[in-house]
Amino acid sequence: MKGAGTLQIAPSLLSADFAALGDAVRLAQDAGADLIHFDVMDGHFVPNITMGPPVLASLSRVARVPIDVHLMIESPDRYVEAFAKAGASSIAVHAEAVVHLHRTVHFIKMTGARAGVALNPATPVAALTDIAGDLDYVLIMTVNPGFGGQTFIPRSESKVRAMRELLTACGSQAPIAVDGGIDLHTAPRIVAAGADILVAGNAVFGSADPARAIHELRAAAAAGVAS
Ligand code: DX5
Ligand code: ZN
Repeated sequence: MKGAGTLQIAPSLLSADFAALGDAVRLAQDAGADLIHFDVMDGHFVPNITMGPPVLASLSRVARVPIDVHLMIESPDRYVEAFAKAGASSIAVHAEAVVHLHRTVHFIKMTGARAGVALNPATPVAALTDIAGDLDYVLIMTVNPGFGGQTFIPRSESKVRAMRELLTACGSQAPIAVDGGIDLHTAPRIVAAGADILVAGNAVFGSADPARAIHELRAAAAAGVAS
């Protein structure tokens, strides 16, 4: 994971064929993906269930790019170590799921993984005021988490701008990731607002040609950098 100002594409495996996840990782990295986004859902914090540390451990043996783990689960502290051991290069927990966020963030860092915090669409940027300077990255949800293929929430653009201001005020160069409804139309807009890492599930693996979709997404996002 690179710092702010460098565009990174992170295909989300959520929309890949779960019977062929290793192939999806290979395809994405061969097409130039910077990161692989690994969505963990527990059926409690979000109304869906996906995958856990054993699946990550298998994919880590295939991956040549860092795997970013997005924990959409209750009590994420219980699983941070397991995901770090399974090969997570970065781990994001949801601010809404954690009581002692400072402790959790530093616990993630102790495992050697980069620490991120994710915010649901209704959670204000101000929730991170006193922890922003400690974060390796921020994950702004641009849909309500739980499912792929949802529609981007337009208010996310001003939220990313506000997040960038908060990070800058802390002297932080941490990148901002955006997750949900990122496609050729929304990518340039959200990059222009200050997003650095584009997570995309449906736009990549829902496409007939995922490798081409990754190239096109990068090109579309680059237009946002230039604007
Ligand atoms: C949604 C997940 C996302 C998901 C995004 O809760 O966190 O990572 O894969 O999917 P798209 O890009 O299809 O909106
Ligand atoms: Zn995600």
